Amino acid sequence: MIIDKSKISIRPEKATEYETVNELIYVAFSEQHGKETGIFMKNHFIEERKKKTFIPELSLVAVLEDNIIVGEVALHETDIVTENGKITQLVLSQSAVLPKYRMHGIMRMLVEHALNKAKEMGYGAVFLGGNPALYGRFGFEPSCKYGIYHKDREKWGDGGFMVCELIVGVLEGVKGITCYYGG
Ligand SMILES: CC(C)(COP(=O)(O)OP(=O)(O)OC[C@H]1O[C@@H](n2cnc3c(N)ncnc32)[C@H](O)[C@@H]1OP(=O)(O)O)[C@@H](O)C(=O)NCCC(=O)NCCS
Repeated sequence: MIIDKSKISIRPEKATEYETVNELIYVAFSEQHGKETGIFMKNHFIEERKKKTFIPELSLVAVLEDNIIVGEVALHETDIVTENGKITQLVLSQSAVLPKYRMHGIMRMLVEHALNKAKEMGYGAVFLGGNPALYGRFGFEPSCKYGIYHKDREKWGDGGFMVCELIVGVLEGVKGITCYYGG
């Protein structure tokens, strides 16, 4: 399939599109990681949308000219608990692209747009638990480098819990734990 990326727009999802996006997450994760993960990731995001950490401007969809949604990414707030109190930053909840639209740079469009928007909004760092081979391509690096660990450190391993500094130096001297369980 030929995809003209100039015809794809990235914008926040609308409340009327939640069901479509939920289904997209289910389809994308089921296809690559199995049905159970598909259900888990879909339900996880349904719950994230209900929390006060949810940020509509950072819950983005990739849309074709005919208004078909083919991909999504969502960032929401998370706290780093440090000796000197909590610091609020972001976590990338998940990113998903429908199977037939993959490997055309749609995830890259979504993630880069989300990181730029987050920086514009004043956030300094984005965490995630995930695949280093994938997220390393977007500027994420193991957060242990900064002395910031996930509460469930063993689950993610020191390579699998990552961070991307949006503002260089923002994590300097910040040591602590985040509680986000990742997807
Ligand atoms: C992962 C996923 C979102 C990628 O979407 P995509 O639109 O095909 O990705 P892109 O075409 O934008 O690729 C971006 C980069 O990641 C690489 N990439 C894509 N899928 C990858 C994978 N599974 N593992 C490692 N690298 C991958 C591409 O080669 C590309 O690299 P480059 O830009 O440095 O050349 C899609 O495969 C998907 O929905 N998977 C199921 C859900 C999932 O696993 N999400 C990620 C965890 S939250």
